[in-house]
Amino acid sequence: MNKSVPACRITGVGANLPERVVTNLDLEGMVDTSDEWIVTRTGISQRRIADEGTTLYDLALPAAREALDTAGVKAEELDLIICATATQDRYFPSTACVIGHGLGSGDAPAFDISAACSGFIYGSSIINQYFKGGVTKHALLVASEIYSRIVNWKDRSTCVLFGDAAAAVVFSATDGPEGLIDTCIRSNGEYGSFLTGGAITRTGDPLAGALPSMGEDYFIGMKGNQTFKIAVKSMCDVAQRILKDNGMSVADVDMVIPHQANIRIISAVGKSLGLPEEKVYANIQRYGNTSAATIPLALYEAQKEGRVKKGDVVLMVAFGGGLTWGASLMRL
Ligand code: ACO
Repeated sequence: MNKSVPACRITGVGANLPERVVTNLDLEGMVDTSDEWIVTRTGISQRRIADEGTTLYDLALPAAREALDTAGVKAEELDLIICATATQDRYFPSTACVIGHGLGSGDAPAFDISAACSGFIYGSSIINQYFKGGVTKHALLVASEIYSRIVNWKDRSTCVLFGDAAAAVVFSATDGPEGLIDTCIRSNGEYGSFLTGGAITRTGDPLAGALPSMGEDYFIGMKGNQTFKIAVKSMCDVAQRILKDNGMSVADVDMVIPHQANIRIISAVGKSLGLPEEKVYANIQRYGNTSAATIPLALYEAQKEGRVKKGDVVLMVAFGGGLTWGASLMRL
């Protein structure tokens, strides 16, 4: 099978955001920071934060329903459900299984994947292989994150960066020219300590009644400067590579949708690829870094705003904890 002939295409996108808006001004009242610092260093003005008691499933389900409605696909037609998340409600059942049940998708296989901010790209890569296998007709990829759970709200160097969101995409089999052209995913565990979060430890003997506990490692830890440099380089490298592998160049790309971690990373990636600002999508101003959800949320908004349309070549590129990074190239 020619790897550049799409086996699936995006037929529906959905998104769901918590109602609560937390502005930089709100954060000024919580930690020693300023709107000016946050906007200049990150590009973020506000983020959405889930209310206490909101589960990842609560956030994800409406996004999944909207994606299915837009695609005109019934839940029972789904052959696969993947949830990309680093902040699942529990180890098991997986969020994907709970979403599948909520949607009424019957016995479609469902599982979560953990690739931090690269989760959507990792998910699309897995889904691409299922479609190339030839038996999958419709697959749902949900990217849902509640990072506010693992943010240390007393740490100004990280708490200003993240937000909560869910977005979902339905992929459907195709034999036309539009669709997922290729994906490329990579990792390097050597630098895993640059971005960490969610560690649950057990001190003491469980047989003597010791319970798991959450220490400092539970909160997001980030070596911001080192991560910044690797993020720009990895995203540019993988973008160039996927284009070259598919006989394309930057000139063929109508829109790059990069992971939204920092406006300076987004700008540096666009500049290094030689793309004008209008061909690099950014909505980090409104939502901050919502990890795996940033790319499908950006696609959702880019479509609504008419910034991308059917037939456009879109290059999605992400970087995150692991370290993980990757790209998905598609014709919408
Ligand atoms: N308000 C005010 N001052 C602050 C704040 C804040 N919120 N945070 C840090 N500072 C201070 C620091 O203490 C430091 O002060 P000092 O010079 O007196 O020591 C100064 O600002 C500069 O700090 P830097 O860390 O050097 O700032 P930088 O310009 O590098 O920006 C940032 C930090 C925003 C984290 C940036 O490095 C970045 O975006 N890194 C990449 C993040 C990323 O790629 N994440 C990937 C995905 S995340 C995931 O996968 C979980």
